[in-house]
Amino acid sequence: MPNNYMIKKDNPSILFVCLGNICRSPLVEAVARRRCTQAGLQLTLGSCGTGNWHVGKGADPRMLRAAAEAGYDLASHRARQVRSDDFVAYDWVLAMDGDNLDTLRSLRRDRGSEPGLFLPWAGVPSPSEFPDPYFGDADGFRQSVALAERGVDGLIARLRAA
Ligand code: 4NP
Repeated sequence: MPNNYMIKKDNPSILFVCLGNICRSPLVEAVARRRCTQAGLQLTLGSCGTGNWHVGKGADPRMLRAAAEAGYDLASHRARQVRSDDFVAYDWVLAMDGDNLDTLRSLRRDRGSEPGLFLPWAGVPSPSEFPDPYFGDADGFRQSVALAERGVDGLIARLRAA
């Protein structure tokens, strides 16, 4: 049975997924880690990418900087690629955009959690896709931090309402 419409209250697990796992998903993971702890929610959190180009590398230096300005430490992050058993290990597998959601759907093969889109899942009305800051400027990375915070606040509200 698809479980992405059911909220498991005790220690649910959420995996955030982007393309490279060096910008958006590690940022969202760090913001969620901090804000969920502050909210008293116990969660197992992770992040990964659908691509393999950056596996083993740290977060993009521009993302590290923008996150650090807002008080989030991404220094220990190392990129990894999604695995088919992630759909079994995690209650929710949340993609940052539609392309990555399509990739996740093709990898899942009807086993484990159905992937969803992070921002709509968190109840953020718009945008529905988390813009990729990789090819943009420093301002885009700062906007990513603000959007990650909005998304995580929505995620916490959804978990609390369950
Ligand atoms: P992310 O950003 O998916 O948010 O980690 C990107 C990182 C790397 C690339 C694209 C997006 N890349 O083309 O290498």
